[in-house]
Amino acid sequence: MGTALITGATSGIGLELAWQLATAGHRIVLVARDEERLETTASHLHAVTGSEVEVLAADLALVKGRKAVIERIEQEEHPVGLLVNNAGFGLGQQVVGGSMRREEQAIDVMIRAVLMLSKAAAEAMVPRGRGAILNVSSIAAQTAMGSYSAHKSWVRSFSEALASELAGSGVTVTALCPGLVRTGFHDAAGIDTSVWPAVGWIDVEKVAAEALRAVRRGQVLCTPSLRYKALTAALRVAPRALVRAVAGAERYARSV
Ligand SMILES: NC(=O)c1ccc[n+]([C@@H]2O[C@H](COP(=O)([O-])OP(=O)(O)OC[C@H]3O[C@@H](n4cnc5c(N)ncnc54)[C@H](OP(=O)(O)O)[C@@H]3O)[C@@H](O)[C@H]2O)c1
Repeated sequence: MGTALITGATSGIGLELAWQLATAGHRIVLVARDEERLETTASHLHAVTGSEVEVLAADLALVKGRKAVIERIEQEEHPVGLLVNNAGFGLGQQVVGGSMRREEQAIDVMIRAVLMLSKAAAEAMVPRGRGAILNVSSIAAQTAMGSYSAHKSWVRSFSEALASELAGSGVTVTALCPGLVRTGFHDAAGIDTSVWPAVGWIDVEKVAAEALRAVRRGQVLCTPSLRYKALTAALRVAPRALVRAVAGAERYARSV
């Protein structure tokens, strides 16, 4: 069984992916900032699944954090066969009047780190002729809610481009585009979830299971649940003015 390195693996979608991968027998490398939460998660995962679990405390908003993760990706002992770029956060602010530092951190974690880690992983995997990269985008990529929509749109577009560049190399790239999932995400961003309909929520277990199925199949785009597959199809053909009116800055402003 190969090694899976997961960023943002101590909570929500990343944690569930870690559980499902460890249960399937993979060695896991957990990446996040909070060392105590990393250690607790690692010992729990190891005790229950028996899988080997490494921890790597790194802040992906910082140069030294990204460098530490890249060094682990380049390591030849227990090579990383699956990279999951999952770490991310909601900005919880509008562009106008919001903190520029937070905007820059969002770019560092959700764009710069995704680019740098994917590049390092692909360069290590291609000579081996196998490997997979799973990048967590969002349904928000197709909407117009804050700069977060633009970041997640970048992740989806970059993943498609890299998948196409790597076609035939044995290395696959998958962009996961989930809808609303109950995790630590909304509380951390101070987002009022009451503005979203109850029917919009999907289970984190389902999201992770569908994502890993897509990775196994080498599928490039993965939108978990029929509801969100239908919404994605509708968003693709809807006039953008309608998308902006229904899922645009005005609705976002009511949530933050
Ligand atoms: N929840 C949703 O509705 C939803 C929907 C679509 C897409 N997504 C995407 O799914 C991904 C996971 O989100 P989630 O909902 O599972 O959120 P979450 O429960 O808040 O988990 C976020 C994880 O990322 C880590 N993290 C945050 N900032 C980091 C940084 N600077 N460096 C390293 N690790 C960092 C956190 O740990 P530390 O705080 O210890 O660093 C935590 O492990 C994100 O990319 C998010 O944009 C979420």
